[in-house]
Amino acid sequence: MKNVSIALLGCGTVGKGVVDLLAMNGPLIEEQLNTKINIKRVLIRDLNKYEKMEDLPDSIQLTTDFNDIINDDEIDIVVEVMGSADFAKDCIEQCFLRGKSVISANKDLIADYGIPLLKLSQQHNVDFQFEASVAGGIPIVRPMYSSLNSNRIEEIIGIMNGTTNFILSNMTAYGSSYEDVLKEAQEKGYAEADPTNDVSGYDAARKIAILATLGFHSAVTFNDVHVEGIENISKEDIEHATEMGYVIKLLAIARQDEDGISLNVHPAFIRKGHPLANVDGAYNAVCVRGNCVGDVMFYGQGAGSLPTASAVVSDVMNVILHRNLKMTGKRDYVWHEAKLKPQADI
Ligand code: NAP
Ligand code: HSE
Repeated sequence: MKNVSIALLGCGTVGKGVVDLLAMNGPLIEEQLNTKINIKRVLIRDLNKYEKMEDLPDSIQLTTDFNDIINDDEIDIVVEVMGSADFAKDCIEQCFLRGKSVISANKDLIADYGIPLLKLSQQHNVDFQFEASVAGGIPIVRPMYSSLNSNRIEEIIGIMNGTTNFILSNMTAYGSSYEDVLKEAQEKGYAEADPTNDVSGYDAARKIAILATLGFHSAVTFNDVHVEGIENISKEDIEHATEMGYVIKLLAIARQDEDGISLNVHPAFIRKGHPLANVDGAYNAVCVRGNCVGDVMFYGQGAGSLPTASAVVSDVMNVILHRNLKMTGKRDYVWHEAKLKPQADI
């Protein structure tokens, strides 16, 4: 069994999710990769805060100094789950220069610096992956640049922010107040450190900019998105929508035709019965239209600790598989003899 040492930058909702997921699914992952993933170091800001974190394994070395991570040659892969853009960008660039691959869940960073960072990672022959940056646990980033890339993508439309969807769903279903549900979304770990980015539509705007860049093969940015949030949606608006047979959802929409690309985030009335009308709570859904495949829809948990960690750790595994492939020239697939249930039990 091989060992891969990784480091986490940040240990909040998503970082702790990565720790928990590796504890839960470690044996399954080891079997698939023939490799043990060991979280060696975690960058935090305040040591006192983490002394109180009971279920962080003793084997993890906490540090407040990024140099401890960048100078550790045993660490091959760095997982950036801090949020915000500038410090994270600086750390990631240093990782690439030192031959370390990076996974990030940080859409603020990817929307602003994704393309230059991807180029830098290529120059240094390391991997840079960011599946969790859009729609939490839903696999949507990789399909945009991989499974769907034989198509001309015409439209990407979806609910890409869990916090606002949680707020709107609860206001609709239970008549809850905006303030109460926002507080609940923060407690559940759906909201950003500063929830302004969620409710103003900026978070969804960054996500649609990332998907449009990948899907349309055109570098668009957050500034190219026309954005309107949900701050002004009142209980009355929601009651009015319900009376008319609609629900209100915050949609992110990217379209491409011969005249160009349009990018919008805004609340919209959706008729009950439409697939997007039934996406509730912190769930997200993204519908993609390709000129050959037609419409495909991705649905799942768009925020939260373990769902987001699912995307992050899968990226870590992909980097390990890619590295093994580069080293050995072959991809190791692990299959077991299937243990089928007797027909009577099904
Ligand atoms: P969070 O709960 O606020 O955790 C971030 C952690 O990073 C905090 O513990 C924070 O420390 C730490 N941190 C921030 N700046 C730091 C620095 N300069 N040095 C050391 N530690 C630092 O945020 P999160 O929800 O885990 O989100 C992390 C990233 O994932 C963000 O980019 C977010 O957009 C993205 N994301 C989140 C979700 C989700 O459902 N939460 C889903 C998808 C993507 P302090 O506690 O000391 O502030
Ligand atoms: N704050 C984000 C949301 C987290 O609510 O969707 C997932 O990106």
